[in-house]
Amino acid sequence: MPSAGLGVERFDIERQAARDTHDVREVMRVTPLVWISLGLVSLTISVMLAGSSLVDLVPNHDRQVFEYRRDLAEALAVQYSALAARDQIETIQFAMETLAKRNHEISSLALLQKDGSIVAQVGAHAQAWVQPPGEQSTLQSLQVPIFSGDQPWGVLQLAFRESEGSDIDRFLSDPWIRFLAFVGVMGFIGYLFFMKRTLRQLDPSGIVPTRVKAALDALTQGVVMIDTRDLIVLTNDSFSRAVNKPVTSLIGSDLGTLAWKSVTPTDSLMVYPWTRAIMDRQSLDNIPLIMNRSDGDQRKFIVNTVPIMDDGSTVRGALVSFHDVTELDRANSQLKDANSELEASRVQILQKNQELEATNTTLHVEMDQRKKAEAEKEKLYQQLMNASRQAGMADVASSVLHNVGNVLNSINVSTDTLLKTLKKPMVGDVCRIASMFNEHQENLQEFLTVDPKGKQIPSYLGLVAESLSGSHQTIQGELDSLVKKVDHIKQVIMSQQDIARAGNIREPASAEDLMEQAVVMALPEPEKCHIQIVRDYSAVPMMMTDRHQVLQVLVNLITNAKNAMVEHSGGTRRLTLRIGVLSAKAFAQFEVIDTGIGIKPEHLPRLFAQGFTTRKAGHGLGLHSAAIVAKNLGGTLHGQSAGEGCGATFTLELPLVVVEAAA
Ligand SMILES: Nc1ncnc2c1ncn2[C@@H]1O[C@H](COP(=O)(O)OP(=O)(O)O)[C@@H](O)[C@H]1O
Ligand SMILES: [Mg+2]
Repeated sequence: MPSAGLGVERFDIERQAARDTHDVREVMRVTPLVWISLGLVSLTISVMLAGSSLVDLVPNHDRQVFEYRRDLAEALAVQYSALAARDQIETIQFAMETLAKRNHEISSLALLQKDGSIVAQVGAHAQAWVQPPGEQSTLQSLQVPIFSGDQPWGVLQLAFRESEGSDIDRFLSDPWIRFLAFVGVMGFIGYLFFMKRTLRQLDPSGIVPTRVKAALDALTQGVVMIDTRDLIVLTNDSFSRAVNKPVTSLIGSDLGTLAWKSVTPTDSLMVYPWTRAIMDRQSLDNIPLIMNRSDGDQRKFIVNTVPIMDDGSTVRGALVSFHDVTELDRANSQLKDANSELEASRVQILQKNQELEATNTTLHVEMDQRKKAEAEKEKLYQQLMNASRQAGMADVASSVLHNVGNVLNSINVSTDTLLKTLKKPMVGDVCRIASMFNEHQENLQEFLTVDPKGKQIPSYLGLVAESLSGSHQTIQGELDSLVKKVDHIKQVIMSQQDIARAGNIREPASAEDLMEQAVVMALPEPEKCHIQIVRDYSAVPMMMTDRHQVLQVLVNLITNAKNAMVEHSGGTRRLTLRIGVLSAKAFAQFEVIDTGIGIKPEHLPRLFAQGFTTRKAGHGLGLHSAAIVAKNLGGTLHGQSAGEGCGATFTLELPLVVVEAAA
């Protein structure tokens, strides 16, 4: 059984063969119609011919011509005999010539006398004239006897040219024949068309019982019954719906004339499965066919065909069932699309998986490396911590040394003073007087009153007592100052231990006292360095602050100012100390202004950096620790200079009101 999957070549050959058979069948199919039409035409023509012969309906063409020619000849005969009676032969001759010229049908004509002599003639009459029997005339040769009174006088003979063309031409040019031919052809076409329409319009389904029709309509499949000419004899509603055409218009039409298409778009459909089934007398199953409906929709059917045989095993037609698989097909192709998409995404997922695996491996490696790096970092961090702790300790140590060094300077000065006071010669003199008293124990009174040396002792002792009490006061003062300075050193060391931490002891302090104390510590003997001190103090209320830390800052500032001025060779050395209140900010302001070497503009931003110094003996710690202290106290420290040689101004601002957070 042939199927849709045949080889292309074999299928082509089969198609060609099928097409030939189909053409023959086409002719065969038309023949009965043609025969019927031909029969009807013959009948019509026979009736017309019979009618014509019975009723003499149609006039004979030749006879008409003959009658016309006879009338003409008779009229001429009358005219010429009259002229001959008057002996006007020339006029006859002239009239004959004129006639022959004007009437081309006339080959020749002659007027003869009774004895046969020619009175007048035109054309080669002797050759043209064919004598009919007796006195009769034919179509070509007409003769009219002329009488003079009762006696025959002569005869007028007219020879007509035979009409041109063959007998067939003449036959065909006969209007009656033409009319019959016209009726025959038009009648044939008309009958054929009429018969075709009539046969088509005859509804064969009328003979199908209603129950059978209802049963067919109940089927979901389209069912079509065709005859051997593929004309639809019967169909059901399902098929009508599927092809979008009413049943009435389908009945009698050729099933193949619906717009069928092969499933493979390149092949044009040559032979329909039902045609093949009828030809092969074999049922044909599962042939896919596509139909383009008039509404533009395209439906796909699976076609099964069973040939219908009669008892004598002659094929009478075929039963064709159409299973509409359009939706199924669409769903199928959607499924296919989805499947291929799924396949594509599966491939993508696989790729992604591989990539992920690769990334995972890289990640593992990276993680290992990172862990190692972490461990190393931790180690380094520990080392750094140790290093920075040591560095921090070194910082604190050097800062302590620095600040303690500042105080020690002034302690040196105090001790110097003490030593000088103690080394005064009067102490030695008192010792000598004591030993003199020992020598003159027995005669002490005599010694004091008589001895010249002894006499001077009482007044001298008065002087010594006076001097000693002065020295005592100096020593007392210096010792007080020493105690204060030692206390400051203690505080410096304590404060340096936790310099970064706030929360030191706050106590009421006078800004003026702080400044003065700082000057004594930093610059105890200004005149020695030829420094003039200018004080510009405004009234500042008592403030709560850490005295020692403020002192530390101010001592640093004044020491730096002194160093800057000592280094600066020319000009006056003037140190201006200014105290005031920034009313808007509620800050106390301490300014240390000098006329020293000044600061280069490029150094200004680095002043407070740890280790920044321009001095040989410097450490670069003073301003750094001072700035930290100022910040811890809730204040600020600024440095200004108009440039090299222009001196510098350092400003410390501290909050006047105690800040709770810092308390
Ligand atoms: N009053 C000033 N005039 C000029 N330069 C100053 C003054 N005060 C500080 N400087 C500059 O700031 C630097 C840092 O000062 P400081 O931190 O106290 O360290 P050191 O005094 O050990 O150099 C000094 O070396 C100096 O260059
Ligand atoms: Mg310094």
